[in-house]
Amino acid sequence: MGYGSEQVDIDRGLVGHRATPLGDSPFARNAPAIGIAIMYGLASIVWLSAGQALPGGRWLVTHLFTLGVLTTLLWSFSRNFAARFTGGGDLREPVAATWALALLLGASITSMVTGRAINAHWPLVIGTVGIMFVIAMNVVTLRRLRARAHNDRFVWVVRRYENAHVLFLISAGLGGMLGAGVVPGEIYLGVREAHIHLNVLGWAGLTVLTTLVVFGPALLRVRIEPGAEKRASDAVLRAMFGLGIGTLGLFLRSLGRSIGDGAEGPAMLVLAAGFAIYLQAVIVVAMPLLRACRAHDRSPLRWSLAAVVIWLPVGVAIDLALLVVGRQSWNVGLAVALLIGVFAQLILAVLLYVTPMLRGRDFASRDVLIARTERLARTRTATLNLGVVLALVADLTPGLTTTFVEPLMRVGWLLVLLAAVAHLVVILWPLGRVDPEQVRSTAAARYRNPPG
Ligand code: HEM
Repeated sequence: MGYGSEQVDIDRGLVGHRATPLGDSPFARNAPAIGIAIMYGLASIVWLSAGQALPGGRWLVTHLFTLGVLTTLLWSFSRNFAARFTGGGDLREPVAATWALALLLGASITSMVTGRAINAHWPLVIGTVGIMFVIAMNVVTLRRLRARAHNDRFVWVVRRYENAHVLFLISAGLGGMLGAGVVPGEIYLGVREAHIHLNVLGWAGLTVLTTLVVFGPALLRVRIEPGAEKRASDAVLRAMFGLGIGTLGLFLRSLGRSIGDGAEGPAMLVLAAGFAIYLQAVIVVAMPLLRACRAHDRSPLRWSLAAVVIWLPVGVAIDLALLVVGRQSWNVGLAVALLIGVFAQLILAVLLYVTPMLRGRDFASRDVLIARTERLARTRTATLNLGVVLALVADLTPGLTTTFVEPLMRVGWLLVLLAAVAHLVVILWPLGRVDPEQVRSTAAARYRNPPG
């Protein structure tokens, strides 16, 4: 971004009130969950860097991320957003209770993943029950907030969060049963695929889709396109029904396979119809955001957000195609597209957005932290997405020999890890001495003006 004389004048204008001390951050309640998520994020980076040298297999790193990072943040942000969107402002819960729930969730996740990794039954069961308890408690909190809502506009957001939580409870129950070895062989694959889809597209997918509709414009520092919110809220509901139909198709297909005699044919139709409905709904949510990313350059996060809303329909389309052609539906390529391209990338963008509010105690420090997010923003995003593309190509290109697959995959992961570390450095780097005169930030200069 260019830095003209007009910009320098704006910067000088800002210096005047940069010393103003600020109250509590609107994201202060997310701090414990963010801390836990960052620790699990670092653990995932260490595991991926070590390759297969660490125990637990691919399952472990998948759950270090999907439970430790993703679930912890979905839990925390959904309750915080619900409190804000229903007009209540705060959660009206003692801060100690928020900390206790976050720590219980973090400890339960550790117990569950350790139990599974070392084949210990009780830590796995206790951990799973602990995680389900914290999520179930959140359903109660969300319902309480919805009942007290001061306005109707965003009540649908809280309803969708509640639905996504219920999907988590169902799919975690299925995961616990898979882990405990109580699922009969004939339906094992169907239950496994249902567990994955209800979690990835249901728990995470629906929460993220809902949040993108209402918080995506704030990340981009623009206004919601007229009419887009209604279309998108209808689409999120459709996505939920599509997922329900698709999951039923997964079960039926698994049963059909065990019966034999072509019984899986009709199930394939149900499955394909369900996930096609989900895909269409994702596109409806993604399009206005993509248009806003192209039309406005008010936020350094627009590159990440554009990539997120591209990877989401691409990932769902790949999943649908793999299910229809009968290939193993959850493979490395899909994991990279959805878990890294969508969820990890969105999490990093949201953390970059909230860091200045969480760490800056006056406007000057906030502006310093915002200015940092602008530096090399495109390079960080390009590195992460190039890594995703390489890993995806390596895993999904038919007929590619191992001579190409292995180096492509290795370079892909290296780029993803480099980009993730670079984002974390921006988020965690000490503030140091703040000199308001020296702060140069295009976003900070603009963010106090009303968005256009
Ligand atoms: C308490 C919560 C959970 C439990 C007990 C659990 C348990 C399991 C188990 C036992 C499997 C292995 C099935 C097999 O391969 O035979 C599995 C696989 C999987 N789970 Fe979970 N899970 C939980 C939460 C989640 C969440 C929140 C997500 C995503 C948002 C998720 C995504 C996956 C994926 C993608 C796989 C396939 C992993 C692979 O093969 O690479 N799980 N889970």
